[in-house]
Amino acid sequence: MPPTDLPLTGYDAVEFWVGNAKQAAHYYRSAFGFRPVAYAGPETGVRDRVSYVLEQRAIRFVFTAALGPDHPVADHHRRHGDGVRDVAFRVPDAEEAFALATERGAAVHREPEVLADEHGKLVVAAISVYGDTIHSFVQRDEYSGPYRPGYVALEQEPVTGDAGLELVDHVVANVELGEMDRWSRFYEDILGFSQLRHFDDEAISTDYTALMSKVLWDDEGRIKLPINEPAAGRKRSQIDEYLEAYGGPGVQHLALATDDIVSTVAELRDRGVGFLEVPEQYYAEARERVGQVDERWEDIERLGILVDRDDEGYLLQLFTEPVQDRPTLFFEIIQRHGSRGFGVGNFKALFEAIERAQAERGNL
Ligand code: FE2
Repeated sequence: MPPTDLPLTGYDAVEFWVGNAKQAAHYYRSAFGFRPVAYAGPETGVRDRVSYVLEQRAIRFVFTAALGPDHPVADHHRRHGDGVRDVAFRVPDAEEAFALATERGAAVHREPEVLADEHGKLVVAAISVYGDTIHSFVQRDEYSGPYRPGYVALEQEPVTGDAGLELVDHVVANVELGEMDRWSRFYEDILGFSQLRHFDDEAISTDYTALMSKVLWDDEGRIKLPINEPAAGRKRSQIDEYLEAYGGPGVQHLALATDDIVSTVAELRDRGVGFLEVPEQYYAEARERVGQVDERWEDIERLGILVDRDDEGYLLQLFTEPVQDRPTLFFEIIQRHGSRGFGVGNFKALFEAIERAQAERGNL
């Protein structure tokens, strides 16, 4: 039995370390419909970095950049480009979560620390995971400020309203060949997750690419963490391309859930978000495979949305192009109608689309 004594209430925030937090925040505000809610920087007494906190419904993103050359955020950016530093979890007791995780073998990143200001107190601790990625444990039940002590509230609206993005559905890691099992055991043994799905390279392969994936989850469905590793293909896989461009393992994509994917994707496309294009032939096959859906097929096809069905229901999903210069992090937009899957029926069409983009970059 997995340990159930380390409850994670959900995602607290995803923190990105970037080269230019002001511009990244503007991109997520204007293109993805996030609302800037908090800020820390020189004006608030933080001398070495700036952070912008943005929210949309239950999603919280933090963008942090260094203010000088000799700073861990600058080093991280030099090595990885823009990317996810921290997938932070909300916990009822951060000291206890940290003590249990580290007793079971998690590497210490930050000892528990109580942060306080006029809005109350917040406790934070962190462990290191794959690559330079960390998981913070955040206890904020006694904190009412805009984000954490040291941050001031920002009152800005999204440039053109929100985009209907509700919550983080899953966070996917890319790790090196042979490392998937080690990290899946880490989440099982240390955080008490269990394995929800396993895709081998038979399920996920094209003429060029093969990869393997295991999905770890918290048994409640609040947190789902797929882990990919490359498998030997005839050419360089998308996971290999990521590992090279990112300089090691890291977060490959974040899936953001919506209750109305047709209007969310129409909205994002209007605002200039680029998506992977699926071949026209996809839809004849998809209508056959998936059958009756609540949405209109003409909308699905017009917006290039992918559809998959399993024995529990169906899901609609779509993948953005990488959101920074390096071919590393991208987003998935997902709407679930009962299915708890990940769109395995779309993997082939999807990977062929990724490979076309990879070939255009000269990386296939
Ligand atoms: Fe995904």
